Amino acid sequence: MKALVVANWKMNPPTFREAKKLLETTRKAADATEHVTLVVAPPAIFLRELRARHKGKKIAFALQNASAEESGAYTGEISLAQGADAGATYAIVGHAERRAMGESSDDTQKKVAAALAANMTPILCVGEATRTASAEYFGVVKEQLRIGLADISSSQLGSVIISYEPVWAIGGEKTMSPRDMHEMAIFIRKTVVELHGEKGMGVKIIYGGAATESNAANMLRDGDVDGLLVGHVSVDAPRFAALLQAIEDAT
Ligand code: 13P
Repeated sequence: MKALVVANWKMNPPTFREAKKLLETTRKAADATEHVTLVVAPPAIFLRELRARHKGKKIAFALQNASAEESGAYTGEISLAQGADAGATYAIVGHAERRAMGESSDDTQKKVAAALAANMTPILCVGEATRTASAEYFGVVKEQLRIGLADISSSQLGSVIISYEPVWAIGGEKTMSPRDMHEMAIFIRKTVVELHGEKGMGVKIIYGGAATESNAANMLRDGDVDGLLVGHVSVDAPRFAALLQAIEDAT
C-alpha cells in the first residue's frame, strides 16, 4: 500500500521563485518513489502557478485552510471553490496552528462538510495540546472528532482523512512513539465507529508532528497509520528527499 505524504509548507518559502525550486526538487524526489502518494500544501497564493507547472505529474495539491462560506464579505478569506479552481483536491482543516488562532471545532465541522461538497478531500487535524498521566487527551481527541465529523454521512467517511497531530510534538525532531500512535489510531477508529458505524474501521489516519527522515519509516511501520503530515522537513529539500527515500527503502 502507498503511504500518503502531505507536505505542509505552512507560511514558507518567502518568494514564488523559491517555491518553484522547492516544488521541482520535491517532484524529482517523489518521482524516484513508487510507494508514496504526495500531496503538497503550499501557501494558497502560490497554488495556481505551481499547479500549472505540474499538470499531469504525480503531485496533488492541498489548501492549508479555507473558509466554509461559499462567497461574500469575508475579507482575507479564500473559499474552497476558489481553491478547487486553482487546482487543490485536498483541504487541511483544523490544523493546530489554525485552532491556536481561534478556529473552533464547530468551524471544522462546517469546513469538513463544505470541502466534501466541493469534491475535495478534507484532512481533519485533531490532537491534544498537552499530555498528562491522567490520559484526558483521549477525551480531547474524541470531542474534536465528534464535532468535526458531525455533519457527514457514513458513506462519506472514505473521502475523509484524519490527521492526528499532538501539538506538543509539532516543530521538533522527535515524534511521539509509534507504539503510542498505534494506541491512538485504535482509539480514533473506535471513536469513528461509535459515531458513524462500521465504516469507521476503514477511516484513513495519518500522523503529524516532527515527522523526519529519521523516524518516518518507523512511524509508518509501527504506528498503524496510512501516511504522514510533514511540516518543517517538507520545506528543506534535501531532508524531504531523504524522508521520501526512507519510506521507499522501507517498503
Ligand atoms: P512539523 O513537521 O514541523 O512538526 O509540523 C507538523 C505539522 O504541523 C504539519 O502540519
